[in-house]
Amino acid sequence: MNYLIETNSIENFKSDLIIVGIYSNQVLSSTANILDNITNGLISSVLKRGDILGELNDTLLLNVIPNSDIERILLVGLGEQKPLTVKNYRKVLTASISAIKKSRFDSATIFLTEIDVAKADLSLKTRQIVEVFEDDIYQFNECKSKPADEMTLKNIVIHSTDSVFGEIGLAQGLAISGGVRIAKHLADLPPNICTPTFLAQQAVALANKFQHCETTILDVADMEKLGMGSLLAVTRGSREPAKLISIEYRGGAANAKPIVFIGKGLTFDAGGISLKPGSGMDEMKYDMCGGSAVLGTLQAAAELNLPLNIVGLIPSTENLPDGQACKPGDVLISMSGKTIEVLNTDAEGRLILCDTLTYAKRFNPEVVIDLATLTGAVLVALGRVPSGLLGNDDALCNDLISAGETASDSVWRLPLWEEYQDQLKSNFADLANIGGKDAGTITAACFLANFAEEFRWAHLDIAGTAWRTGSAKGATGRPVPLLMQYLLNRVHA
Ligand code: BES
Ligand code: MN
Ligand code: ZN
Repeated sequence: MNYLIETNSIENFKSDLIIVGIYSNQVLSSTANILDNITNGLISSVLKRGDILGELNDTLLLNVIPNSDIERILLVGLGEQKPLTVKNYRKVLTASISAIKKSRFDSATIFLTEIDVAKADLSLKTRQIVEVFEDDIYQFNECKSKPADEMTLKNIVIHSTDSVFGEIGLAQGLAISGGVRIAKHLADLPPNICTPTFLAQQAVALANKFQHCETTILDVADMEKLGMGSLLAVTRGSREPAKLISIEYRGGAANAKPIVFIGKGLTFDAGGISLKPGSGMDEMKYDMCGGSAVLGTLQAAAELNLPLNIVGLIPSTENLPDGQACKPGDVLISMSGKTIEVLNTDAEGRLILCDTLTYAKRFNPEVVIDLATLTGAVLVALGRVPSGLLGNDDALCNDLISAGETASDSVWRLPLWEEYQDQLKSNFADLANIGGKDAGTITAACFLANFAEEFRWAHLDIAGTAWRTGSAKGATGRPVPLLMQYLLNRVHA
């Protein structure tokens, strides 16, 4: 889709379709009011007939507009006349794009940045339009022999009272939704295509697009030299070679410490010898969503030329059962020197992340944020609404919470108290890799905390938010919007 900012007032408009808001009780938004005057009261007479009440998400397409250069008007309901929440604003946008995406015309002009939205300025509203529309029209067609119907709608004109704020919001919206699209696409790809080697190739291709971006791929031999005994144990049962992908984006001052993102890149998690049950196992192709979100975030940051140094690290492997596979009872020596007793080979995410956390130290990080589809338990605790957040630094966690609120990509913090560490005690090694049935998300993070003692660190458990299940099965691209907001806030701090 093409997007364009337009500041011309509506009186001089020609358009295939104009999207305007109406409140309940027949209250018109300001553009709806002007349109009503231009069309001799068309909108108010439609409202009087009661065909649209103006409740949140109502839509009505008026497709004959007498004596006008405007071909069609889409009325969208905003509910009661008061500032909308960002969540409701996004619902209105979803209703708008859903109502028109199958139409046969090619452009639409949206007059919804004029709507009052609490805690959202013009650029954020503009950005939300692009993000919501792009999210809604995303399709995964790569593996279908007959692609779904092509859309006729090609151009969205976003009306704005200020071109500067409009363009800022547009640029951010395009970058973020581009990052979300990559994250979704890589995650939706089947695991026989999206292997660790494939992910590494994507990282190289991404870095080649940008001047200040560089990728290094560590292979198994490199990881052996580094002593990554924990990460390498996970990969032993797989025939696909593991990769540790490292992307460095240098947009900031030469001496500025980098923000390090670590994304779990399990391209398929069968559980290993502690094999998962069969039903729904296909969804374990999504166990690389942390990794794909890191790629999406780096692309968006590079596209916006953010004046920051950022490192993305993606440990990538499969977790499969095999004669060579790591077994329950095995004791591993991690890169940090700490020994780990594997009690369940399905708790593999922490095994690859711990060595990556140790590796992250060499970048002298400002902060380290890992994102991982780490535990089914986070679904029990929080469902599919926020991502789980845990960390060893209150300021960092608060920054992530507030970024999540702004970006409508929420997180909820869980405690990482020392009492929980007891659950990870092992009779045979420094640590066990599981902490029993209670508080699974917390004990997983406690495990990681043992490898993040030397820097400010936060962990996002995205197992409930990175993809949808059921008939809408597909990746969401979360938490790219959250991480981008965190980065944008750092730039403007
Ligand atoms: N990738 C899974 C986490 C997961 C499970 C995400 C279900 C989404 C849905 C992870 O590797 C895993 O298997 N975790 C285990 C840990 C357990 C063995 C302590 C889990 O959550 O069951
Ligand atoms: Mn697992
Ligand atoms: Zn996993």
